[in-house]
Amino acid sequence: MSDEVIGLRDALATFDEVWSPRIATRVNDYDVRIAKFEGEHVWHVHEDTDEFFLVIDGEITIGLREDGAERSVNLPQGSVFVVPKGVEHKPSAVKRASVLLFEPSGTLSVGDRHEDVPDHVDATVGHQLTR
Ligand code: NI
Repeated sequence: MSDEVIGLRDALATFDEVWSPRIATRVNDYDVRIAKFEGEHVWHVHEDTDEFFLVIDGEITIGLREDGAERSVNLPQGSVFVVPKGVEHKPSAVKRASVLLFEPSGTLSVGDRHEDVPDHVDATVGHQLTR
């Protein structure tokens, strides 16, 4: 955890990279991460944890594959969604969006199983915010 007040707007202004989450703070064993989304992430699965998304700015889509079917959910600004553990998913955003994620520390951004990771996607457990 951090004992400082963290302004999310200021924190988001410290980086430009998309698909490269920063750890804003921690809650017990969980990270509060912030990230910028634009374009497509990769299909991936977190076998052992749910993943929480809150859209701070913009709008995102999350593709979901479960029980052999594929669907997608649209998340407008201000909405939250939880991808259940074990469900294959692929976030995307047509325009640049800012997102807060809540997930156990050490969770890899591309999950435990994933497609080939393209150069524009950072496979990371989250970077420290630099200020
Ligand atoms: Ni994920």
